[in-house]
Amino acid sequence: MPDFSRYISHPVFKAVAEQAQKMQLETYVIGGFVRDSILERPSKDLDFVTIGSGIELAAAVARELNPRLKVNVFKNFGTAQFNYKGIELEFVGARKESYDRQSRKPSVESGSLEDDQNRRDFTINALAISLNQKNFGELLDPFRGLEHLKQQLIKTPLDPDITFDDDPLRMLRAIRFASQLNFRIDELTLDAIQRNKTRIDIISGERIIDEINKIILSPVPSIGFKLLDQTGLLELIIPELSKMKGVESVRGVAHKDNFYHTLAVLDQLAPKSKDLWLRWSALLHDIAKPACKKFVEGQGWTFHGHNFVGAKMVPRMFKRLRLPLNEKMKFVQKMVNLHMRPIVLSEDEVTDSAIRRLLFEAGDDIDLLMTLCEADITSKNEDKVRSHLNNFQLVRTKLKDIEERDAIRNFQPPVSGEVIMQTFGLAPCKEVGIIKSAIKEAILEGEIHNNFDEAYRFMLKTANELGLKKAN
Ligand code: CTP
Repeated sequence: MPDFSRYISHPVFKAVAEQAQKMQLETYVIGGFVRDSILERPSKDLDFVTIGSGIELAAAVARELNPRLKVNVFKNFGTAQFNYKGIELEFVGARKESYDRQSRKPSVESGSLEDDQNRRDFTINALAISLNQKNFGELLDPFRGLEHLKQQLIKTPLDPDITFDDDPLRMLRAIRFASQLNFRIDELTLDAIQRNKTRIDIISGERIIDEINKIILSPVPSIGFKLLDQTGLLELIIPELSKMKGVESVRGVAHKDNFYHTLAVLDQLAPKSKDLWLRWSALLHDIAKPACKKFVEGQGWTFHGHNFVGAKMVPRMFKRLRLPLNEKMKFVQKMVNLHMRPIVLSEDEVTDSAIRRLLFEAGDDIDLLMTLCEADITSKNEDKVRSHLNNFQLVRTKLKDIEERDAIRNFQPPVSGEVIMQTFGLAPCKEVGIIKSAIKEAILEGEIHNNFDEAYRFMLKTANELGLKKAN
C-alpha cells in the first residue's frame, strides 16, 4: 500500500497517535480529510475513528494539547469533538451500524475498522490513514476509494439501498459531491436514489437546505440541479423549480424552457459571484413564470408580472425551505422584483430619470443587480449577447454619472417631515406626506437636484399650490 504519511505531518496527528498508543487504541484518520487531501482541497475538519471509546480518546488528546480545551461530548452517538487552533477534531468509536434497525436509534455496538468503513456513505469517504505505530501512514482502502477518486466516481461501499436506508440524506450528499467535485454518480447508486427518493421525507429541513446551499455554491451548480431533477428529488424539495420545466407551443410558437434557462443563468453567475443570496436570486428570478404564462394573439408568449409575483413567492418558499426570514430574504425578493429593469432600460433609450428610479429602488444592491442581469443573458445569438452587454455597460456608466451627481443610492429626503411641519405650523397630516413625495418625485424626474436649497424652494412652491401658508 502506498505511504500517505505526508498528509498527516501536522502536529495534531502526532498528539492523537501518541495518546492512542498510550491507551492502546487502534486509531485512524478517516473520511473527508483523507478524500480532500488526496484531491488537494483544503480541509479543516478531522475525523478520527478508534477501535474503542472515541470519547475517552478525545478527552485524552484535548488534555494533552491544552488542558483548558472544551470537549463536546455526544453520548448517544458515541462521539466527542473539540476545536484546536481553528481545526475541528471529531472522534468516534468504530461501530457495526449507524442505526439499530428496529428502533432507528443510533447504534453503539462496537466494531472493527472495516465495519465502520462499511457503514460510511461513499467509497471516497471511507478512506482511512493509519495513525498506529505498526503501519503509520498506510492507506486503508477496502472499497477501491482511491481508484474511484481518480475515476471521479461517487459510489456507495455497500448495496446503495442499504447505505441510503441508513441515512437518506446521503442521496443529497451524493448529488452535492457530484456537483462540488464534478464527479459522476455510479449508475446503480443513481438508480437507488431514484428508487429511494421519497425517504428524504424523514430528513430535517435544516439538513436538506445545507446540502442544497452547497450545491448552489458549487462551481457549476447546474450539475447538481440536473441530478436533483433526474432523480426526482427536485420535485419533492423545490417543486416550484420543477414546474419551470418544459416547452409549450401554440401554432408553432414556443417559449424557452425556463428551468434550463434558470440553470444557465446560475452557471453564468457562478464565476462572477460567490454570494449565496445572489445565487438564490438567480435560481428564483423566473420562479413565477409558470404562474404568469399566457399566449396572447399577436404577441406570442407573455409572462407579465412574473417579477412581482415571483417576489411574493419568495417568503413562502424561504419559510418552507428553512431559509432565513431576514434581510437575506428581502435581498432575494428585491433582486427577483427588479431583475428585468436594467434589461428594459438597456432596450429603450436610457433616460436619466429611469436610471435615478432604478438607483432609488436598488440602493446599495445596484451592482449585484447588474451582475445578475448580465448573467441573465443566455441567448445563443452572439450578436444579440454583445449588443445587450454593450447596452448594460452604458447603463453602468450612466448609473455612475447620476450617482456622482445626485447621490440617489441611499436616498434620504433632503427636506425632512419635521422641517415641513415647522415651516407651515402643521401637525402630522396627509399634506406633509404629499409634499415629501412630491420632492422625491421631482428629484427622481430630474426637475431639481438632490440638495436642501432646491428641495426647500420646491417645498414652498408645492405648499403654495396646496394652499398652505408659512407659519410665523
Ligand atoms: N458520513 C456518512 N454519512 C453521512 C455523513 C457523513 O457516512 N450522512 C461520513 C463520511 O465518511 C464523511 C464523514 O462521515 O466523510 C464526515 O462527514 P462530514 O463532515 O459531514 O462530511 P465530509 O465528507 O467531511 O465533507 P464536507 O465537510 O464537505 O461536508
